[in-house]
Amino acid sequence: MILGRLSGVLAILTGAVSGQAAQRYCDPVTSICYSGWTGGNGIWIGVALPSTTTPAFDTALQIISPIANGWVGFSWGGTMPYVPLTVGWVNTASNTSIYSSRMAFGLSLPQPFDGAEYSYLQGTGYNKTHWTLNVRCKGCSEWHDVDGNLASIDPNGAAVKFAYAYARLAPREPANNRSTFNSHTKFGHWNLDLTLGQNAKFNQLIAANLVPDALKPSSSGVPTSLPTSVRTSTLTSVVPTANPGPIQTGIPMSCSGVSALHFPTLTVDGWKATKVAGGLTQPRGVIFDTAGHLLLIQNGLGITGHTIGSDGCLTSAKTIITQRNLNHGIALSQDGKSLYASSATTVFAFDYDSATMSINGSSRAVVTGMDNRGHVTRTLTIPPKHPNLLIVSHGSNDNFDFESGNMKVGRSSIKAYDMTQVPTDGYNYASGGQQLGYGLRNSVGLAFDSDGMLWAVENSSDEIHRGTVDIHVDNPADELNFIGDPSKENTQWYGYPTCYTVWKPDFITDRVFSVGDQFVMTPNDTFSDDTCTQTSVPAKLALQAHSAPLDVAFNKNSTRMYVTFHGSWNRNPPTGYKIAEIQFRKESTGLFAPSHFVNSTAGYKDIFWSPDVEHCSTTQCFRPVSIVRDKYERMYVTSDSGGEGELIIFGRV
Ligand SMILES: *[C@@H]1O[C@H](CO)[C@@H](O)[C@H](O)[C@H]1NC(C)=O
Ligand SMILES: *[C@@H]1O[C@H](CO)[C@@H](O)[C@H](O)[C@H]1NC(C)=O
Ligand SMILES: *[C@@H]1O[C@H](CO)[C@@H](O)[C@H](O)[C@H]1NC(C)=O
Ligand SMILES: *[C@@H]1O[C@H](CO)[C@@H](O)[C@H](O)[C@H]1NC(C)=O
Ligand SMILES: *[C@@H]1O[C@H](CO)[C@@H](O)[C@H](O)[C@H]1NC(C)=O
Ligand SMILES: *[C@@H]1O[C@H](CO)[C@@H](O)[C@H](O)[C@H]1NC(C)=O
Ligand SMILES: *[C@@H]1O[C@H](CO)[C@@H](O)[C@H](O)[C@H]1NC(C)=O
Ligand SMILES: *[C@@H]1O[C@H](CO)[C@@H](O)[C@H](O)[C@H]1NC(C)=O
Repeated sequence: MILGRLSGVLAILTGAVSGQAAQRYCDPVTSICYSGWTGGNGIWIGVALPSTTTPAFDTALQIISPIANGWVGFSWGGTMPYVPLTVGWVNTASNTSIYSSRMAFGLSLPQPFDGAEYSYLQGTGYNKTHWTLNVRCKGCSEWHDVDGNLASIDPNGAAVKFAYAYARLAPREPANNRSTFNSHTKFGHWNLDLTLGQNAKFNQLIAANLVPDALKPSSSGVPTSLPTSVRTSTLTSVVPTANPGPIQTGIPMSCSGVSALHFPTLTVDGWKATKVAGGLTQPRGVIFDTAGHLLLIQNGLGITGHTIGSDGCLTSAKTIITQRNLNHGIALSQDGKSLYASSATTVFAFDYDSATMSINGSSRAVVTGMDNRGHVTRTLTIPPKHPNLLIVSHGSNDNFDFESGNMKVGRSSIKAYDMTQVPTDGYNYASGGQQLGYGLRNSVGLAFDSDGMLWAVENSSDEIHRGTVDIHVDNPADELNFIGDPSKENTQWYGYPTCYTVWKPDFITDRVFSVGDQFVMTPNDTFSDDTCTQTSVPAKLALQAHSAPLDVAFNKNSTRMYVTFHGSWNRNPPTGYKIAEIQFRKESTGLFAPSHFVNSTAGYKDIFWSPDVEHCSTTQCFRPVSIVRDKYERMYVTSDSGGEGELIIFGRV
C-alpha cells in the first residue's frame, strides 16, 4: 500500500514518465513515418529522421494536440534547460499553427533560439478539435550542452529520452513566434525507439512536403514585450565620462531613457522604487565591483557592467563576458581582482579589472562536478571576515532529491572553498571544500549579518502531501535558516528531503501543529515528526509556502533583513512577487535572530509588492530575484519576469 501510494505521488512530482510505448506511424498526408507516442492529455508526438548512423541529421517533428491546449513544447534533449525546444501553438490570425524555436537557460521562460532552423511541412493547421504542427528541423539532433560540449541524439537509440510539456493558457501574442508564454500546466518525459522513426527516403519526403514560403505563418519577428530600443540603449551606450558614483541618498523620481515599470507595483509608505534598466535578458545575480560599478548576470547572455550616475541611475552599459551558461551566481574577491560566476556545473574565476570593467585572459574552473539537473542555479558569496573563502550553495536536482539526504552526495548543500589553495583542476563540489550545512533543498539567498554569521533562505518543496492528503497549497513553509560561522565546519542536517516546516497547521488534521513545527510527509515506526525535532535543525523563521525566497540582504546594523520573494507556480492563487522586511534583534546569546519566534506568521512585512497578486505568473508581475545594497543602504533588485527583465533601485525616501 505504502509503495503504491508513494509511486503515485512520485508520478505526479516528476511528471508522467511512462505513457504508451512508441509505435511506428506513417502520416497519410505526407507519407513521413514517425516514431510516435500518445502522451498526456491527448497529445500525440512523433519524431522522424533519415536512415543514418551518425549525427547531425535533419529531423521532422509532428505534434497533434487537442485544441484546448494553449501550447505544447517538445524537448529534443529530454530535459528543459540547454537543449533545443520546439514549442507549437495555434495562430488564428493566419489560420494555422506555428512553431517557436527555443532554448531555456535555467528553469525559466525559454528564449528564442537561433541555433535551429525550421521549415513547415504539409498538414500543419487546425480544425475544431485538434491542431497539428509538422516541421522539419535542422539543428535539433545535435547541440551544445550547458558546458559547451556537443550533445546529440543517437539515431539508432532504442530508448532515447525526450520530454514534453503543455499549458492550458495560450501564449501572450499567438501571432508572434517570439511571444512570451506562461509556465507549463504539466510536463513529462518518456523514451522513443528512434529506429521506428527512420525513413530511407527522408530528404525526398521532406522536399515533397515543404510548405512554400508564401504560405508560412506570419511572424513579426520582434518581441513586443522585450523592447529592443531599451535593450540597445542599456547594452551598448557607453557614456565616456569618469564614473562619479552615487552621491545622493535618495531614490530618483525616474531615470532618463528608461521606460516605466512593465507591471504595476506598490511600496509601503516611506519607500520608493524606480526602474533603472529594462529589456534585460533574464537578469539574476547582481553585485558591485570595487570601483562602484554594478555587475549583472543576464542569464543566456553573460555578465554586463554598468556605471552609476550621482542620482543612482545607470549611465552606461557594457558586456564584460559573453557566456550563455552563466545563470545566477556572481561574486567578487575583496581585492576586486577575481570575479567568480557559475554555470549549473562549474564555478569559473576570471581575472578582473574594476577600473576598466574588463577581464583579462580566459577563465579557470575553481569548483566543478556540480549537477546539471533540476535546480541549476548556484549562489556564490564571500564572507567579509574570511575573504579567502568562496561559498557555493547547490540546490536539489529535483523536487524530491532523495539521494541528497546523504551529505557526501553534495547537493542541497552549502560548502566553502579556500580560493588561496585551489587544486589545478579546481575543487570537486562534493569531495572538496568544507561543509556549511546540508539538507537545504535550494538555499538560493545567502547573507552575512554584521557579526559575519551566514544566513540562508530556503525554497522548499512543491506537491507536498501528509499521508494521502494534499496539503501543498499552504505547506511546507519556506524557511530562514541560520548557518553560522562560515569558517567553521557545519555538518548539521537541515531536514530536506524528509523534514519540512509547517506553514498552515490546520491543513494537517492527524496531529496538532504550530507554525514552524517540523513534520514528515508519511510518519512511520522508525521516522516520525518527533524524529525531525531530534535530528534536524529547525528554521529560525517560517515564510509563506511557495513564496520562493531567492535573496536576502541585511541593513548595516543587522536590525533588518530584506528578502525577495520570486513567487512560484505551485500555488493557486499565486503568492510572492514582492520584497519583505524581517525585523532582527540581538539575543541574549549574543547572536542576531529574527525578532519573532518561528511559531509566528508576523515575522516579516511587505514593503514592495504586486497588486492583484492572484494574476501574477512567470510572465506577469515584477519577479524580484537578487539584491545588492549600496553604501547609502539603497538596494538594486533584479526581476527576471518573462514579461520584461528589469532592474530597480529601491530604498527609503
Ligand atoms: C482565415 O480563415 C477565414 C475563414 O475561413 C478567412 O475569412 C480568413 O481570410 C483567413 N485568414 C487568413 C489570414 O488566411
Ligand atoms: C520565427 O519565424 C521566422 C520565419 O517565419 C524564423 O526565421 C524565426 O527563426 C522564427 N523564430 C523563432 C523563435 O522560432
Ligand atoms: C481534426 O484533426 C485531427 C488531427 O489531425 C483529426 O484526428 C480529426 O479527425 C480532425 N477532425 C475533423 C472533423 O476533421
Ligand atoms: C593580462 O594578463 C597577462 C598575463 O597574466 C599580463 O601579462 C598582463 O599584464 C595582463 N593585462 C592587464 C591589462 O592586466
Ligand atoms: C520511514 O520513513 C523514513 C523517512 O521518511 C524513510 O526513510 C523510511 O524508509 C521509512 N521506513 C519504512 C519502513 O517505510
Ligand atoms: C522554488 O520553489 C518552488 C516551489 O515552491 C519551485 O516551483 C521553484 O522551482 C523553486 N525555485 C527555485 C529557484 O528553487
Ligand atoms: C540601525 O540602523 C537603522 C537605520 O538603518 C537605525 O534606524 C537604527 O536606529 C539602528 N539601530 C541600532 C540598534 O543601532
Ligand atoms: C511561540 O514560541 C515561543 C518561544 O518558544 C513561546 O514562548 C510562545 O508561547 C509560542 N507561542 C505560541 C502561540 O505557541
